[in-house]
Amino acid sequence: MRLVVLVSGAGTNLQALLDATADPAYGAEVVAVGADREGIEGLARAERAGLPTFVRRVQDYPTRDDWDRALAEAVGAHGPDLVVSAGFMKLVSEQFLGQFPMVNTHPALLPSFAGMHGARDALEHGVKITGATLFLVDGGVDTGPILAQVAVPVDDDDTEESLHERIKVGERGMLVETVGRMARQGWSVEGRRVRIG
Ligand code: GRF
Repeated sequence: MRLVVLVSGAGTNLQALLDATADPAYGAEVVAVGADREGIEGLARAERAGLPTFVRRVQDYPTRDDWDRALAEAVGAHGPDLVVSAGFMKLVSEQFLGQFPMVNTHPALLPSFAGMHGARDALEHGVKITGATLFLVDGGVDTGPILAQVAVPVDDDDTEESLHERIKVGERGMLVETVGRMARQGWSVEGRRVRIG
């Protein structure tokens, strides 16, 4: 399965995928990495792995729709079977999603704490268990059918940073395991329920 991975930051989830795909038995390969900004470690990781990269910045286009079309064109040029949003901090349109299936990883147990600050919002709410969710992206914000979740305990002394780092450990494992299963076994969706295999 051909993966195009989209990133906006450190790219540790991307790195976990790159490490996993080094084994042909994994069933998927990363064919390109895209970003919405320059100068991020996620792109540097892709370059070190010898992968093609592309950047499409919202501010370089007259409208958000123009940006979305340009992003879809850049993604489409690599013929992906699946687009993986791995810390990509932008929403894409229904038109984009009509062209490629896309998964996104979120640092909270959806439907709780959707949005930009999943770890911080869970900590401030005082939950004792949070985690990460991998889901199929739909037209909403973190609303798509859920593929996998991992639970992570909240410690009394956690800061947003310490909690997010602990979540990210579980998140990377969940992403790698689930994308691999999707590649090897396929998936089907019935209503909100997703079955892999
Ligand atoms: C992840 O926790 C992701 O869920 C969130 O941002 C983080 C990205 O981390 N949206 P990285 O860039 O993969 O290290």
